[in-house]
Amino acid sequence: MIQRPRGTRDFTPQEMETRRYLESLFRLVAETHGFREIATPIFEHAELFTLKSGPNILDEIYAFEDKGGRQIALRPELTAPAMRFFVNDLTNYPRPLKVFYFGQCFRYERPQSGRYREFFQFGAELIGAPNPESDAEVIGLAAAMITRSGLGNFSIRVGHIGILRSKLSEGGVKSESAPAILQKLDKKVYDEAVPLMQQAGMSDGAIEDVVALTKTIGGIDVLQSLTGEPRDYLMEVFQVLQSYGLKDVKVDLGVVRGLDYYTGIVFEVDAPMLGAEKQVCGGGSYSLTELFGGEKTFSTGFAIGFDRILLALEREGMKAPQKNVIAYVVPVSETMRLAAFKITADLRSNGISTDVDLMRRNLGKNFKYADAIGAKFVIIVGEKEAAQDSVTVRDLKTGEQRLVRRSDLSQVLKE
Ligand code: HAM
Repeated sequence: MIQRPRGTRDFTPQEMETRRYLESLFRLVAETHGFREIATPIFEHAELFTLKSGPNILDEIYAFEDKGGRQIALRPELTAPAMRFFVNDLTNYPRPLKVFYFGQCFRYERPQSGRYREFFQFGAELIGAPNPESDAEVIGLAAAMITRSGLGNFSIRVGHIGILRSKLSEGGVKSESAPAILQKLDKKVYDEAVPLMQQAGMSDGAIEDVVALTKTIGGIDVLQSLTGEPRDYLMEVFQVLQSYGLKDVKVDLGVVRGLDYYTGIVFEVDAPMLGAEKQVCGGGSYSLTELFGGEKTFSTGFAIGFDRILLALEREGMKAPQKNVIAYVVPVSETMRLAAFKITADLRSNGISTDVDLMRRNLGKNFKYADAIGAKFVIIVGEKEAAQDSVTVRDLKTGEQRLVRRSDLSQVLKE
């Protein structure tokens, strides 16, 4: 037997119905907030991802040379593709441009629960409105989507990467040394971050300050001790969040984010029941357009880890509506077979999801099958009924049977 590649998954019909259900909820919420869908290719020029992060990122993604000798990468995320699309084709759209996307991403990860090599992101980007209310708008959207999904237990933490970056640069860290330090601080591995800060020339006091900063978490009052532009910006974001009714959002100055492009507000959403892979959403404002040959344009956004939200919802007992057929049509004898197909076609053209016996089973076995596929009604097509231009409709839940005229059948089933 050929197995699927490591870190990938197949989805059963039930799983797909749950996934499509959640996707449709997310889509509805995004549209309600004035965002419109875009789509970009699954693969891009590898350069799109190495430009900001450097060639080391190639170790973490699926990259290869195609038959024309081009360096290609399967997208590890959708922000860089969305911004490439913006710079190429969307700069004439009215600002702010508010877009969302849903699709697979690929990362060469060590697979575990909630961490896959192929996974799905539902994300949004808001482009061209350089104000705190834009950040609040995307945080508000992420919160509304996760709330609408029905997830009960999650927390949102918002910080500002500018505060940490300026602390590092005030401490003497050159801009090229900052990413490695930030990466360690993101993972909170202080025993690796501290030596890097020492090597970069920071004093013990400055290092202590940075470590304390990354552990600063709480209500808006934790900003009191700070000064400067990022702090004021963060305050304004929180004011708008409060107007949007989001009162439980925490300030966390230790949010660093794994990707290099963030410049301002950064935020993460955790679902604690997921343990190690508890981050179900991440985002913030960033600077990419100028890197892709466009004008510098403020943008802010997020991506929800679709698979992780689903895992969390399943742990909380989520039950999505399943799409079983309404009617299952059964001819009682060979002579009624073609009549059964006619009735099936009629019901389908009236928008009633309908299945029909394709196995030439007897009535008893057909009832069992109808039950197994979760049909609501069995439509029994028999000679006696046909003589009265009718069929027998059996409600599988109650076991009740009644004679229904063929011309009334669709209406009766709809009711
Ligand atoms: P990210 O934090 O790298 O951000 O990914 C967003 C979310 O995708 C994560 O919070 C996580 O839930 C999910 N995720 C990441 N890797 C995996 C994986 N291997 N398996 C399953 N789920 C995973 C971004 O990708 C940014 N583009 C977000 C953004 C949009 N920032 C601004 N705009």
